[in-house]
Amino acid sequence: MFLISNKEMVVACAEAGILGSMPTLNARTPEKLRADLEWIRRKTDRPFAMNVTLALSDPERREADIALLEEFEVPVWLTSYGDPTAAVPRAHAIGAVVMHDVIGARHAKKAASAGVDAIIGVSAGAGGHGGTTSPYVLIPHLHELTGLPIVAAGCISSGRQLVASLALGAELAYVGTRFIASTECGASDAYKDLVVASGVEDIVYTNAVSGVHANFLKSTVPDGTTPDRSPGAAKRWVDIWSAGQGVEQVTSVASIEQIVEDFVREAHDTLAALT
Ligand SMILES: Cc1cc2nc3c(=O)[nH]c(=O)nc-3n(C[C@H](O)[C@H](O)[C@H](O)COP(=O)(O)O)c2cc1C
Repeated sequence: MFLISNKEMVVACAEAGILGSMPTLNARTPEKLRADLEWIRRKTDRPFAMNVTLALSDPERREADIALLEEFEVPVWLTSYGDPTAAVPRAHAIGAVVMHDVIGARHAKKAASAGVDAIIGVSAGAGGHGGTTSPYVLIPHLHELTGLPIVAAGCISSGRQLVASLALGAELAYVGTRFIASTECGASDAYKDLVVASGVEDIVYTNAVSGVHANFLKSTVPDGTTPDRSPGAAKRWVDIWSAGQGVEQVTSVASIEQIVEDFVREAHDTLAALT
């Protein structure tokens, strides 16, 4: 998650038995990214992921980040906002896996042709730049279309929702909003508390912040906000907070270890109730 995912979350996820990630751009410079990767490698020998926001990074920075992913043999590359074609062979050359983020069929087909290993289907209601398609349609459709493993993203904040994603044919679930309200997350306490206090009606899907539709906590979007594509526009994400409709199921700030335990317990309970 832009600005708020950090190396502490990556390590806490790895230790809790899931795959943590952060956008490379959350390290302000490539030097800082190198330091973060060294720190992660020192703290855990388990797998982790890094997110490369392809077209949002300037080309020089993107190249520096990808070179670091190669050097540190980062095992999973999450690519988003752009064409993964150039990244795929570089990841495969070090034995890494590429999962590419899409909201619909057009980009999924392109990513499949580029040779990615899995497609992340970002459904309606997701935090960040969520799509508009229901997961009931998106997940099976993307699998049918590409034949690739599908990672379900959007509104998965509980074990029940995780099981539903698996029932739709997803191989993995990709969770953002729930982890804003984790103790390890870099979001401010006010942001975390607002995620806990908010329900689905407190989320607005708007292109007024960046020009691209995304989900935000409504009370943080000032009236009359218009899209800002200038270089300083990223600062808007500091004051205008993104979260998805899955805030509805977030009821406490908790450690990542606790959140994962809750997911596992709820998933088992859901499956037991079904059978
Ligand atoms: C505050 C915030 C920032 C995000 N930033 C990014 C980002 O930098 N790159 C990216 O690929 N996805 C980003 N996302 C989307 C997430 O990776 C993920 O697809 C989404 O959070 C899943 O939906 P959920 O929030 O409903 O769980 C962001 C989401 C949030 C909530």
